[in-house]
Amino acid sequence: MRNLTLVMTAACVASWLTACSAPLPPASQAERASAISVAVAAPVATPPSDFGSYATALSVFGDPAGQWSNFAANGVVPPTNPFFLALGSNKRTCGTCHNPNNGWTESPTNLNNRFTASNGNDPIFASIDGTNCPSLSTATLAAHRTASSLLLTKGLIRIGLTPPNGAEFLVLAVNNPYGCTSQSQISVYRRISPTTNLGFLSNVMWDGRESLTTSSVQQALLTQASDAVTGHEAGAVAPTAATLSAIYNAEIPQFSAQTTLSTAGALNGTNAQGGVLTLPQQSFTPGSNNPFSGKAPIGVTPSPAFTLFSAWESLSGGNSALLARASVGRGEKLFNSLPITLTGVAGLNDQVLNGKALTTVTGTCATCHNAPNAGSHTTSFLVNTGVAAANVRTSDLPLITLSNRATGGTVQTSDPGLALTTGKWADIGKFKVPVLRNLSARAPYFHNGSAATLDDVVNFYNARFAMKLTAQQHADLVAFLSAL
Ligand code: HEC
Ligand code: HEC
Repeated sequence: MRNLTLVMTAACVASWLTACSAPLPPASQAERASAISVAVAAPVATPPSDFGSYATALSVFGDPAGQWSNFAANGVVPPTNPFFLALGSNKRTCGTCHNPNNGWTESPTNLNNRFTASNGNDPIFASIDGTNCPSLSTATLAAHRTASSLLLTKGLIRIGLTPPNGAEFLVLAVNNPYGCTSQSQISVYRRISPTTNLGFLSNVMWDGRESLTTSSVQQALLTQASDAVTGHEAGAVAPTAATLSAIYNAEIPQFSAQTTLSTAGALNGTNAQGGVLTLPQQSFTPGSNNPFSGKAPIGVTPSPAFTLFSAWESLSGGNSALLARASVGRGEKLFNSLPITLTGVAGLNDQVLNGKALTTVTGTCATCHNAPNAGSHTTSFLVNTGVAAANVRTSDLPLITLSNRATGGTVQTSDPGLALTTGKWADIGKFKVPVLRNLSARAPYFHNGSAATLDDVVNFYNARFAMKLTAQQHADLVAFLSAL
């Protein structure tokens, strides 16, 4: 039925600077194909009520920009799969947070509906990490609502992370508006990542922390599922290997993408390649399209990252739908090729390539979002674009002050990112490059939900990299992102 070209092993994750385009090792393709066949499930006659719409292999859902679709390559995951079972002690399942009807994440709108419908008793609002801090009172409905403000307004879950012994920094101060001021276990607040299109990942988790000890995305996803059961689901014991592989087999065949825009109509019309059905065929090769390979100027990808809307790039005139398609096409071209002066990005501009310091790199959006038609990065690439920087922090997020043990220098941030796990000063504020498909279905954006809309995302980049976008370029980039 499909050509399973996704590559699950990240053979080249160790160094993004090395030109490295490992072909798919035959064993892992076989492994993946057999994993997929195990996952085949007969479509269920009666799906659980809260997953009403996710009932067929190709399901269509509305979102603010139009419609997105989910394609379950092996049929619908049955409600008996452990992904949808409460494996711990607090009645939560993976689907409690990764809702298949909401792009396998959860929207603030739906969270508010869930809070109201359940009087706050829906397990997602458990104090363990569903409120801003476990110590906050949930005694009354009003108190519980206030305590859940970050989940209700931005879809954020509290994550407590303990920097390792021997970290290069001291935690000088934790200013947390909700009382979670521990300096040993730091509370940060993160968006629920979608559990779809996972075949395009090079790192698991916003800060890549599940990928630090393994170069295999499959292994990282198995460990991640185990940690989610003992963490979010408050399980006393880790799940068995069989349970973990059943979860993995449920996650990996899910593909999600925008299929129509209310402005532009079907995203596979007029020879375009948008929509969900092209995704399972989309190859993902670790290390491919490397902007540091020497095959193009440093920072520029050898091939365009996105080619879904090439046929629309030269459209002009016509009715409003054609004009909207032309805007999507122009946005794709800008994403691939508009020069951006990248400076001050830890993980990029502090690196040296072939003896040359990369202090300033003239790149594009695709320098970081280089995976063809997916928008993640094809190698392990964690960078600090400044989303967690103190100067853009809003007062609902914590302010954490770290000081460098060696130099005494200090940094303030709302989320130290990768540094919380590695303990390295250079890793402060580093996050992974997320997959950019199905964006319209999953606002708000960035690890901390700080961009409420795609407009806000583009505003962020325009300011951060002094892009001086024209109003038309801004609108075209937003139209393109909303069509993914
Ligand atoms: C309480 C809500 C909640 C529950 C329950 C939950 N998750 Fe998550 N999940 C999250 C959040 C929040 C993140 C992002 C955390 C981070 O990156 O620090 C996440 C991240 C992930 C990721 C990483 C995706 C990526 O792009 O890196 C996967 C995979 C995942 N979860 C799978 C699961 C599975 C499997 C289960 C059930 C065993 C589960 N989750 C249960 C909230 C939840
Ligand atoms: C220097 C690398 C880099 C460049 C250049 C870059 N991005 Fe990103 N992008 C990232 C990282 C890293 C994140 C995650 C940041 C976070 O949440 O802290 C991200 C997140 C995003 C997201 C949010 C996705 C989500 O799931 O929330 C969108 C949309 C996006 N980028 C679009 C763009 C566009 C459009 C451009 C060009 C104007 C661009 N990016 C340029 C690295 C980059």
